[in-house]
Amino acid sequence: MKDKVTKITLLKMKRKGEKIAAITSYDYLSTRLIDDTGIDCILVGDSLGMVVMGYDNTLPVTMEEIIHHLKAVTRARPRAIVVGDMPFMSYQASVEDAVRNAGRLVKEGSAQSVKLEGGERYVPVIEAIVQASIPVVGHLGLTPQSLHEFGGYRVQGRDRESADRMISDAKALEKAGCFAVVLEGIPWQLAKKITESVSIATIGIGAGPHCDGQVLVIHDMLGIYDEPLPKFVKMYEELGERIKGAVSAYVRDVKDGRFPGMEHSYSADSRKDPSGDSKDEKDDIPR
Ligand code: KIV
Repeated sequence: MKDKVTKITLLKMKRKGEKIAAITSYDYLSTRLIDDTGIDCILVGDSLGMVVMGYDNTLPVTMEEIIHHLKAVTRARPRAIVVGDMPFMSYQASVEDAVRNAGRLVKEGSAQSVKLEGGERYVPVIEAIVQASIPVVGHLGLTPQSLHEFGGYRVQGRDRESADRMISDAKALEKAGCFAVVLEGIPWQLAKKITESVSIATIGIGAGPHCDGQVLVIHDMLGIYDEPLPKFVKMYEELGERIKGAVSAYVRDVKDGRFPGMEHSYSADSRKDPSGDSKDEKDDIPR
């Protein structure tokens, strides 16, 4: 068993030029599977609002929902560092709110760090959370909680002025104490420049190949989410179709009387297997 990944591990990986692999997870079993793969970082993202809860966007997600899913994920005791996302309005209104809510993600959800969206204007918030000994990941670019400010999901930082602002935002987050920053939906040239300009780890999503690491929403890369996907998603499986195929086969079997068969049934005589074998049948049911 390799050592637990911490913020120090990710900073060392950045220094050594070792790529960081991150993914979202929202439940116990997926986390156990994912953690066996060598993943470095698991994000309990507010994307759960869309892929788990069925909301139109991430804005309705509550602290209770994030904590509920964080608890499920951290119960798997993953080796990967677990980042808990701070939902909309859990850190925007005041520094005090932000510290208390970040603390809840760690204390109640057992998160090992928290992530929040926004640049320089969140420096006081980030500094206060870091002061409370909670590691912070920043998030710049197409930050989904600013959906209405952007007027939709649009690539950010394409013009010179906004690109320069994002570079100075990234430097401000580094100075405020973030150990990593997610760069979402920005030109690869800008992501490269930011990655070269800061000593903290950059984790890209729709930000090209030059970031220190990458993150994807698990439902997107497994092909479960049935809405149109952005071009930056690489679909590694079409699990949605496979799930439909498996459940359709089950429905047909039940309706046609093919399931359950005798091999799935118990006998009144515990020494006789109903399929005809005379082997012992145990009363204990594995669960
Ligand atoms: O909520 C989320 O899953 C995220 C990632 C897409 C970075 O913020």
